[in-house]
Amino acid sequence: PTPDAASAPLLGKRVVITAGGTREPLDPVRYLGNRSSGKQGVALARAAAAAGAEVELIAAHMDVAPPEGVKTARVETALQLRSAALDAAGRADVVIMAAAVADFRPAEQARTKIKKRDDAADPVITLVRNPDILQELVQQRRDSGTGPALIVGFAAETGDSRGDVLEYARQKLERKGCDLLVLNQVGQDLVFGQDRTAVSILHRNGGEPQTFSGTKDEAARAIIASVAEELG
Ligand code: CTP
Ligand code: CA
Repeated sequence: PTPDAASAPLLGKRVVITAGGTREPLDPVRYLGNRSSGKQGVALARAAAAAGAEVELIAAHMDVAPPEGVKTARVETALQLRSAALDAAGRADVVIMAAAVADFRPAEQARTKIKKRDDAADPVITLVRNPDILQELVQQRRDSGTGPALIVGFAAETGDSRGDVLEYARQKLERKGCDLLVLNQVGQDLVFGQDRTAVSILHRNGGEPQTFSGTKDEAARAIIASVAEELG
């Protein structure tokens, strides 16, 4: 049967998805990384492709393989992910920033392996801030007057004594200026690397967040359904 709006709601749409965790080199053999497995991003790529989209996956470090048949670009650092994402956004209808982008990178990258030395002090690592790619995507769309119809951010929040997760997510949505924000509640053993997850989808225009729990594939299908609905 020919795919139709019901079975393939993203037919003809170009969807860029970033996934995995960036790695920021300290020297040729060491990096600062994070616990992102890439599973949620890969599930999203699979769900978007199943919905008929032409998917481009920009993959930082992942514990899992990219889905068969999905065009994939591998990157290592936040700065590499930034160039790939800003470039791909120019030809996309939707950008989903599921990657765990390092907020900071070492200010300097040693050209040779850092050695222990008895005649010198132990090293102190100075960090500098990485650009906020999601904010830049929103800014690039605003400045150029064209670009993806939909920019989707993710938020991994643990909540703390100063605020609950939904509150933080709402503030993050405002700050970033994206259209949708997917909230993942994280904590020890929750979400990172796990197959099950709970997500809440917050809309820029307000309204009650929609919450889904289940496998990362089920959550991905729910997110992609929201994306398709939002595209209209
Ligand atoms: N993100 C990004 N560039 C960065 C950091 C984050 O594009 N340098 C994106 C992530 O891919 C995600 C969203 O921003 O879609 C939110 O990431 P998160 O780490 O939750 O937010 P931050 O603004 O970095 O705030 P926090 O201090 O809570 O980490
Ligand atoms: Ca962050």
